Amino acid sequence: MLFVDSKNRGINKEGGEKKREMGEEKEIFIKIRGVNKQFEGKTVLKDINLDIKEMEPLGLLGKSGAGKSVLLRMLRGTDEYAPDSGDIIFRLAYCPSCTWIEGPSRVGEKCPKCGTEFEYKEVNFWQDTSMQRTLKSAIAIMLQRSFALYSDESVIWNVLEALERARYPKSKRMKKVYEILESVKMLHRVNMPDTRDLSGGEKQRMVLARQLALAPILLLADEPTGTLDHETAKVVHRALVETTRGGTTFLVTSHWPYVIRDLTEETAWFDKGVIVEYGPTEEVVTSFEREVGEIEREDYKKFGDPKIRIEGLKKYYLSASRGVVKAVDNVSFEINENEIFGVVGHSGAGKTSLMKIVSHLEAGSGGSAWVRIGDRWYEASKEDAGTFVKDGVIQGGMTDWKDYFVGVLHQEYTLFPKLTTWENLTHGIGLDMPEDLAKMKVKFVLNGV
Ligand SMILES: Nc1ncnc2c1ncn2[C@@H]1O[C@H](COP(=O)(O)OP(=O)(O)OP(=O)(O)O)[C@@H](O)[C@H]1O
Ligand SMILES: [Mg+2]
Repeated sequence: MLFVDSKNRGINKEGGEKKREMGEEKEIFIKIRGVNKQFEGKTVLKDINLDIKEMEPLGLLGKSGAGKSVLLRMLRGTDEYAPDSGDIIFRLAYCPSCTWIEGPSRVGEKCPKCGTEFEYKEVNFWQDTSMQRTLKSAIAIMLQRSFALYSDESVIWNVLEALERARYPKSKRMKKVYEILESVKMLHRVNMPDTRDLSGGEKQRMVLARQLALAPILLLADEPTGTLDHETAKVVHRALVETTRGGTTFLVTSHWPYVIRDLTEETAWFDKGVIVEYGPTEEVVTSFEREVGEIEREDYKKFGDPKIRIEGLKKYYLSASRGVVKAVDNVSFEINENEIFGVVGHSGAGKTSLMKIVSHLEAGSGGSAWVRIGDRWYEASKEDAGTFVKDGVIQGGMTDWKDYFVGVLHQEYTLFPKLTTWENLTHGIGLDMPEDLAKMKVKFVLNGV
């Protein structure tokens, strides 16, 4: 039996090159052999044989109802998805002292938890219930709609909690939180008090952040970007590729060719419960597209859901010399998430007045300006609906100002002249976060500009 040494992991870590040296083979991590599954007399998986290689992103591609999710849940160990026949064999590095498990390439290395040498162990996942339990704690899953987050808790807390679960050393946790949030491109939301207000793509990146904190040996993702628009999906894909590359065995299902192309190296094409083709992703996806056609491509959502909805918005000023000035007069439009929307017009046309209402700096005189933050809509044009910044002072209203995330970069924008750069980027703008994290954030922000 061939065991690849740590050299192999090194190659993966450096850049996930698809090419490998002659003679170097990836370890087989999971062997699926002759698996069958029926639901109510209907065959949903038929004689599935598939090897899942260690640290290799594998795609399960196929039309709706092909059986992709059933196989994923079977690998997750969900009770009602036990195979009717056939075996799922995990090949593991197993620590005989503390039962810690890793992928098979670690056999012969020292267990990171207790220092004992890893032994090789084969586990028949659906036969060995006690090992199945151990394995399940090392398998992570990302689903399309249910975002497994604590919605009332902050971004930081959500990662910290996962690290605690994974018994990550306490003194190093803050640094790890930063690293993880950076890798999933979430540092810009580090001070978010609850995750409910994140966008769909951000929530999914937070789910990924938690999964990474748990350091799983297998990451299963069932249409992880299925409800996201194209641009947002791409960001999540990048985060997934960068964070799993070289370390985690990763399995993703989708009926979208671009998702499988973005994320995987090898692909199994499922159709009506059987694997019709298996091989390098590009080859398999190309034959899938040839058969299925390009119809689906038209369904790509370029932008996300509506984010700003302006309805009959008015802003009238009373001027001693000019009487009633209709700065904004009955304006209606909608802006979607991820859309870059331009407002153009002559000087005095009302552009700044409009923007001030949307960014909650001034109330409107009529109509409404709805802004969606996460799942919640705020009416920005009403004085009593939220808070206002007046003469540099934050004034109270019904909404907690922290919940209101509209950044403004306007013509006359100034810094707080008496405060330092550091203060201008932290408490000067009302950020309230742990000192060490604030430092990391400031560094991140300054690098960004
Ligand atoms: N718990 C269940 N009980 C009964 N039938 C089920 C169950 N789960 C899945 N099925 C059936 O198994 C078949 C395969 O479903 P599966 O969800 O795996 O498809 P899929 O390839 O993931 O499709 P999609 O792209 O729509 O997610 C379908 O006919 C489905 O109705
Ligand atoms: Mg599915």
